[in-house]
Amino acid sequence: MAMLVQQGKIIWIGPQGKLRGQLGKKTTVKAEHDLKNQLVFPSFIECHTHTIFAGSRAAEFEMRNQGVSYLEIAQKGGGILSTMKATRKSTASDLLKSTQKRVDTFLKQGVSTLEIKSGYALDLKNEIKVLEVLPKLKGPRIVGTFLGAHARPPEFETNLQYIEYVCEKVLPKIRKKNLAQRVDIFIENKFFEKEESQIYLKKAQDLGFQITVHANQLSLSAGADLALDFQALSADHVIHLDDRLIRKFAASKTTAVLLPMADLYMKCPYPPARKLIEAGAQVALATDYNPGSCPSQDLALVGLLARLEMKMSLPEVFQAYTHGAACALGIEHEEGRLEVGKYANFICTEADLSDFFYSAGMTPDHQMFIRGKCLKI
Ligand code: NIG
Ligand code: FE
Repeated sequence: MAMLVQQGKIIWIGPQGKLRGQLGKKTTVKAEHDLKNQLVFPSFIECHTHTIFAGSRAAEFEMRNQGVSYLEIAQKGGGILSTMKATRKSTASDLLKSTQKRVDTFLKQGVSTLEIKSGYALDLKNEIKVLEVLPKLKGPRIVGTFLGAHARPPEFETNLQYIEYVCEKVLPKIRKKNLAQRVDIFIENKFFEKEESQIYLKKAQDLGFQITVHANQLSLSAGADLALDFQALSADHVIHLDDRLIRKFAASKTTAVLLPMADLYMKCPYPPARKLIEAGAQVALATDYNPGSCPSQDLALVGLLARLEMKMSLPEVFQAYTHGAACALGIEHEEGRLEVGKYANFICTEADLSDFFYSAGMTPDHQMFIRGKCLKI
C-alpha cells in the first residue's frame, strides 16, 4: 500500500502500483519514505494525564500500601493538596523542564497526541502559570484541560465557596485568555458532590468549554450521570457502573475512558469494559499518569491490564488507544484512524501487532510519523 500526504493530512491511500497515477505532472514530491514491508497503524493518543506537576508523593505510596486510605491521606492535607503546595511554589521554567521530560517519555512510546490537565495549582495565578506552559512543550500535539475542580484548596472553607470562586473568577479568565478548550472535574462523595458539580459544569458549558469528568472512580456517585446529562466528551475512570448507566453510555456520544493502571495502584476493581463494549459504548484507554494514584507512564502496561484484567481483545485495545481516545478528545475528525482527510500520524514497525501491549514497560522498536514527518528520537 501507499499513502499520499499533503500539508500533514492524508489525501490518498491505495495500492502502491497506483501511486504514480495519483500525482499530477507538475507535482513536486518533497519527501518519499519507503517503509518496505513494515506494519503501519495510527499512532497512539493518550487522552487522560496529569503530566504537569511538581514534587513527589512516593513516601505517601508507602503509607497507602501499609493501609492508610487515599481519602484519609487527602483529609490530612496530603494527596492532591501536597502536590498543590509544590506546584504553586514551582516556577514556570522548572515546570516546563520537568514536564518536557515526561512528554518525551510518552513520545518514545508512540504517542503523537497527549492530553494534559492542570488542577494542581487551584488558584487563578498558578493555574494560569501551569496552563501557559503547555503550548511551550515540544513533540506531540498537546490538548490542555483545565481541571479547576480537582480538590478544594485550604483557603476556602466549603466546596461551594471554592466552586463559586472558580466560576466567577477563574473560568472566564481561562476562556478570555484561550488557555484551554476543555474543563474537567473530580466528582466523588467527599470530593465534589452533585450540586456544586452541576453549578461548575453549567458555567463551563455556558462559556463554551467542552466537558470531561472524573466519574465513579471510588463509588456509584453522581459523576457518570452528570457527565452523560451534560453530554460530556468523556467520563473517565467509570469503575462503578450499573446496567442502567451502561445503557446510558451506549445511547450517548460520551466516551468511557478506562484507566486500569490507576486501578492497579489504587487496588480498585477494574471497570466493566466488556459490558460497555458489548452494549455499544465508545471506549478509550489511558494512563491517568499523575504523582498520586498512578505514577507510571507505561502504555504497554495499560494495554496489558486491559487484556488481562478486563478481557479486552488486542484489536479493542488498539481501537481504544487510537480512535476511541480521539473521540474522548473530540478530535476524531482529525486523528485516530488512517483515512483520507485525517492527519498522517502513524507508527511503522517490523514487529507484529501482537508484540504490542504484551511486555510491560516495553514498546517494540518502531518509527513514528506526525503529520507526515518522520520523528527523530
Ligand atoms: O485521576 N481522581 C482524581 N484525580 C487523579 C488523582 C490525582 C492525585 O492523586 O494526585 C486521578 O486519579
Ligand atoms: Fe485523572
